[in-house]
Amino acid sequence: MTLAGRDHKGRADMTLWGGRFDEPSDADLRALNDSLSFDRRLYAQDIAGSIAYARALARAGVITDDEAAQIERGLEAVRAEFDAGEFAVQIADEDIHTAVERRLTELIGPLGGKLHTGRSRNDQIATDFRLWVLDALAEVDAKIAALQVALIAKAETHADSLMPAYTHLQPAQPITAGHWLMSFFWMLARDRQRLADIRRRTSVLPLGSGALAGTPFAIDRDFLARELGFAEITRNSLDGVSDRDYVAEALFALALCGVHVSRLAEDVIIYSNPLFGFITLNDRYSTGSSLMPQKRNADPMELARGKSGRLIGNLTGLLTTLKGLPSTYNKDLQEDKEALFDSVDSFELYLPVVTAIVQTLQLNLDRMRAALNEDMLATDLADYLVERGLPFREAHHVAGRVVRLAEERGTTLSGIPLEDLRALSPLFGDDVARLFDFGTSAARRAAPGGTAPEAVREQIAEAKRWMAAHSAEAS
Ligand code: ARG
Repeated sequence: MTLAGRDHKGRADMTLWGGRFDEPSDADLRALNDSLSFDRRLYAQDIAGSIAYARALARAGVITDDEAAQIERGLEAVRAEFDAGEFAVQIADEDIHTAVERRLTELIGPLGGKLHTGRSRNDQIATDFRLWVLDALAEVDAKIAALQVALIAKAETHADSLMPAYTHLQPAQPITAGHWLMSFFWMLARDRQRLADIRRRTSVLPLGSGALAGTPFAIDRDFLARELGFAEITRNSLDGVSDRDYVAEALFALALCGVHVSRLAEDVIIYSNPLFGFITLNDRYSTGSSLMPQKRNADPMELARGKSGRLIGNLTGLLTTLKGLPSTYNKDLQEDKEALFDSVDSFELYLPVVTAIVQTLQLNLDRMRAALNEDMLATDLADYLVERGLPFREAHHVAGRVVRLAEERGTTLSGIPLEDLRALSPLFGDDVARLFDFGTSAARRAAPGGTAPEAVREQIAEAKRWMAAHSAEAS
């Protein structure tokens, strides 16, 4: 008997497809070609797919129910070996599919060789990887949700805390810190919506596509989809074996979420600089310098910012791999896995740290307040004139003159006497003094989505409703 994985002379370095070859393949070729080192991560999905497939073969009358049961028991035994970390890799194990089939055949004999009837590694890997992506995106979703929860909690504490906000990194207007924190909540909400959307398109079963043209056996693909938890089946076998849109989309969703987290990280890095001093990082989440004793660095946030680069790199790498491929399966597609593994691993490594940093973030209210200056109220001055009938464009001009006057006199806006203000516009009255209050400025922006404490509290309530409506996607 010729055992799969050995040739007629019993050499162990033959592959499962060695029938038409006289010589074993070159060692360097094997090093390049073999994917078990990374696709062994798909063993649970590969075995689940094979168990479902054995059942489908029995339903199609290709094997008996008893044979299907033996195959299933054998596959469970192989899974147990992987689970226990005891799976012994053989030199002929090219990838996870051949490794599982080789071991199955060792355990149950030649019957193991019936499992691959009508199936190809092309529809097999496409199925395995979709199953893995569905799980991975659910885990990613849960990690993003945890960061959202941390942002809401911190924002609730700081719904009234005043801080400056910037455009072009130049002082702009007073806001509440809760508003700043919640801005990231909504970015992450969109990320999670994107993940849910991608999961819908990933939940499509390619198994039964064969190598490319479909399967000649009476495989019930709807049955396979139900067994494996897919929502539907692919409708074209050529597309089925080569579609990697779900990988590209997952990489994009991770890259964009990484960009959002990178922007949060950048704010935290800037605001924890002593020149700003708005934020003190918790000791557990900051690092020192081996040389400069005074240092308190935001290394984890710098890594979160830095890792967004590799998330984007993985996306552009895969898109570049895909763009020139001729129809159906090409080995280039094997490049999809390490890219997504890396993005998911990177993300799952740093996101919990970012979440912990948000949870433990100390906001220095006095420093944030001290960074507010009256120039940031110039818009309120213009609004005041608008409320008294002046067209905004003229009001903007008058407020600009007030700012200039204060600058020339080396004083603040509230340091300009009323008669000087009235010289610029007779619409100024006694009540202008009440404008020079940062809390009043923030509180005026109470329309939905604004920075007023009451609007922020409403925003937080809305965010909590959003979370309740989206908790199911994580499971
Ligand atoms: N390791 C391959 C991959 O990741 C599995 C499919 C191999 N198919 C083939 N015809 N060589 O894409």
